[in-house]
Amino acid sequence: MISLNDKDIISILDFTKEEILYVLEMSGRMENEDYPDILRGKILANLFFEPSTRTRLSFDAAMKRLGGQVIGFDELGTTSTVKGESLRDSVKIIEGYCDIIVLRHFLEGASRLTADSVGIPVINAGDGASQHPTQTFVDLYTIMKAKGGIENLSIGFLGDLKYGRTAHSLAYALAHFNTDMSFISPPSLRMPKDYIEELAIRNVSYKEVESITEVSNKLDILYCTRIQKERFAEPVEYEKVKGLYKLSKSVMDELKVKDDLKILHPLPRVDEMDESLDATEYAMYFQQAHSGIPVRKALLASILGAIQ
Ligand code: CP
Repeated sequence: MISLNDKDIISILDFTKEEILYVLEMSGRMENEDYPDILRGKILANLFFEPSTRTRLSFDAAMKRLGGQVIGFDELGTTSTVKGESLRDSVKIIEGYCDIIVLRHFLEGASRLTADSVGIPVINAGDGASQHPTQTFVDLYTIMKAKGGIENLSIGFLGDLKYGRTAHSLAYALAHFNTDMSFISPPSLRMPKDYIEELAIRNVSYKEVESITEVSNKLDILYCTRIQKERFAEPVEYEKVKGLYKLSKSVMDELKVKDDLKILHPLPRVDEMDESLDATEYAMYFQQAHSGIPVRKALLASILGAIQ
């Protein structure tokens, strides 16, 4: 029997296909049924060393809707990190105040270090440019609802695939589902070599292109991402690629795409998706963000042993 009791969520690679499907099934249960008390008496610590709107607030709301409580912080500046306290020391203290830690950090590997340092479950809510596994469950749940399943779909990833941690985690997860992947980016923002090599080992069908026109007609899902200005070491490198991809209703009218193509985006957006897209049948990104609640309810309840 599948159980996520006490499991850390650090990388999507830590999940089997069966475990991924289990989380999606539990997310459906959480969306369709109320469980107002199953986490009563439990405390979640939301430790956000980087900005967030969706991830932090949806974890917060999910915990409270299940009867639990939330402590934490949303910026490094209000913590003893500014006095020189190490992450390891901070989390070893905080584990005494709560039952589960959700951590967003600007350093790759911060969640793994935290999980190795404490005796309670740790959820990676984004570590640098590496992974964002709970966003992946939200993305998969949205795809499943939009398409009735995940198997055998053609998925295009557009934008910043180098620094885009949501794209990294999603590509790994989709490798379980016989999907065809198109990576659409400028050469400087290609999917990192490690990810491509892992996909090749897993016999995933993929193609790297610079223009969406090369693949648009076959796509079932277009996963759009923001070019992440804050992760560029050199501002001049950002200037070379900023505004390179701009989707709008008029661009979509000109592109050859399937009628039932759906556009996802982990958000926030900057200029890569115009608001004129929002009212089209392609747009799924607001529903996607709202699915953060049932999905994160399912993760918290499963890890804290409140549902099977
Ligand atoms: N998708 C996502 O991680 O959004 P936030 O940065 O607002 O949490």
